[in-house]
Amino acid sequence: SIPSRVRLIDVGPRDGLQNEKTPVPAAVKIELVHRLQQAGLKEIEVTSYVSPKWVPQMADNHEVMSGITRQRGVAYSVLTPNLKGFESAVLDRPDEIVVFGSASEAFSQRNINCSIAESIERFAPVVEAALAAGIRVRGAMSCTVGCPYEGDIAPERVAYLAGLLQGIGVQRVDVADTIGVGTPRKVQKALEATLQHFGIDEVSGHFHDTYGQALSNTLAALELGVWNFQSSVAGLGGCPYAKGATGNVATEDVVYMLQGMGIETGIDLDLLIDAGAYISDFLGRKPNSRVAVALLTR
Ligand code: HMG
Ligand code: MG
Repeated sequence: SIPSRVRLIDVGPRDGLQNEKTPVPAAVKIELVHRLQQAGLKEIEVTSYVSPKWVPQMADNHEVMSGITRQRGVAYSVLTPNLKGFESAVLDRPDEIVVFGSASEAFSQRNINCSIAESIERFAPVVEAALAAGIRVRGAMSCTVGCPYEGDIAPERVAYLAGLLQGIGVQRVDVADTIGVGTPRKVQKALEATLQHFGIDEVSGHFHDTYGQALSNTLAALELGVWNFQSSVAGLGGCPYAKGATGNVATEDVVYMLQGMGIETGIDLDLLIDAGAYISDFLGRKPNSRVAVALLTR
């Protein structure tokens, strides 16, 4: 049956902003995190400790993490692709680190400059160090339905990656449809492949609305019992290594759907829309959320 409660991880400050061309000042990122937590988000993906040559927008990771006034009960996560990233992240005391692999070999090469097998070798010491430091570990799996370079991705590839991540001690995983090509049954297959290695509470859906399928895919995931999802306030996002990828599904749109279905999220939609309007105003555009636009112009 469909879960009665959903936990949302807002990835806007990281996944959302990483692709923005103009630098967003750390103070604006910090204010966005503050507004998200005021709106009731209990998990926020704040930044990444990656090479500033690869992703310049995240070069202020330390400034952002140390500038946040943390709220009790909120978990702050950050991306760490290797030990170098972990070693700088750990100074900023994240609650969770994220290693990020890809179900597609070609995407792995473009995104993190190594094969899937090599990525697991790099992640293993990161996971070990994080767990030893009492920091939780999530694994993001990109291109679980389709890849911009390889096309369709078979569910077996997803199961393979999920098994490798489970094997090195990753505690939960995100099933990401990075380029938004998924439709409900395909997304369910990717989730089921992941569920071969992780329990239902440890699997989250991460959908992009590129083809307008994200809410349908969310509903399809709910039908399987999945109750953790990633989304991005104001639909911020795109991936620098997935050309044409639009934003993640907007948190506002997901919350509106869930509230309409009587599913508890703990999120105040009005405050969430304010947070989305804040960052969208800064970027000089309308929120990429149908719900936000509808409610703001009502
Ligand atoms: P590389 O060039 O293969 O690594 O990059 P390297 O070890 O040869 O190092 C090259 C240079 O980077 C060296 O500096 C290192 O010190 C430095 P130099 O000597 O040239 O001055 N370096 C670092 N600097 C800061 N932090 C680090 C770090 N590591 C090395 N952690 C690397 C490999 C992984 C670092 C690079 O490819 C990289 O940074 N990639 C990040 C790409 C990225 O952030 N992509 C977006 C993630 S989004 C995603 O995956 C999908 C997801 O959002 C879900 C979805 O939406 O679908 C999760
Ligand atoms: Mg994304």
